[in-house]
Amino acid sequence: MAYLKPDKPEKVYVPALRAAKEKGEKLVCLTAYDYPTARIVDEAGVDIILVGDSIGNVIHGYDNTIPVTLDEILSALKAVKRGASRALLVADMPYGTYHINADESVRNALKLMKEGGAEAVKLEGGRNRVELVKRLIDEEIPVMGHIGLTPQSVHKLGGYAVQGKTAVDAQRLIEDAKMLEDAGAFAIVLELVPREIAKIVTKSLKIPTVGIGAGTDCDIQVLVTHDMIGMSFGRLPRFVRQYANIREVMTEAVTNWMEDVKNGNYPSDKESYGLPAEAKAELNRKS
Ligand code: KIV
Repeated sequence: MAYLKPDKPEKVYVPALRAAKEKGEKLVCLTAYDYPTARIVDEAGVDIILVGDSIGNVIHGYDNTIPVTLDEILSALKAVKRGASRALLVADMPYGTYHINADESVRNALKLMKEGGAEAVKLEGGRNRVELVKRLIDEEIPVMGHIGLTPQSVHKLGGYAVQGKTAVDAQRLIEDAKMLEDAGAFAIVLELVPREIAKIVTKSLKIPTVGIGAGTDCDIQVLVTHDMIGMSFGRLPRFVRQYANIREVMTEAVTNWMEDVKNGNYPSDKESYGLPAEAKAELNRKS
């Protein structure tokens, strides 16, 4: 199997996303939090890699994304950066890193760019983030917005329900998207919103929408990689299609290896190192 698909080798930069929307070309985004995953999804041809704060649930086993720290994102980002060469690299700003004031938010975003190698940051919120988005863009930091279900608001929202289900809420989402675009965001994640609203937002914006649980009309689709390859636990949201069951594959591999060890079938001679003939002969002479 050829792992590398070099049909689209050129590096993805921010302007390419809008150009793809103008051409009606769909793009794809996946999460990664480590070097091997980054390499695999990058070499497969994924356009955007998101070092998401979903790292909290997926990697660290937290109940939600609230505890995720800048250092946790930064450490994952550095590993992902080493594994990704083509995809646009976006880093999530964790809860609490852009909430105190604009200067501190800029400092944290700069850290992700300068130390982690992020090419853009993502943050959650609509109209309440407009001034911050403008400020970050003034400092040459490209921003991806995120509206609809914003997991960092889990305590305020009281769970992870579909957002924008009433006419009033839907209208608010449409306005938020426009405000983020006007503030300079280069793309906006729409998470868990009715597909009709995602379609209206997508059609009304010049910048691309990045859908997760938001239907087929979004310009870009994003999923948490671990969900779509069967490496996560618990009930999957209805929008996740599982394309592989790596948990099953891994369990089988581990079980087979344990059995081989216990039966004396691992390691074989081929999987260990023999003494060179000369040393063997000398040892025989001495003993
Ligand atoms: O953290 C994350 O993985 C995300 C995506 C689900 C968009 O924000």
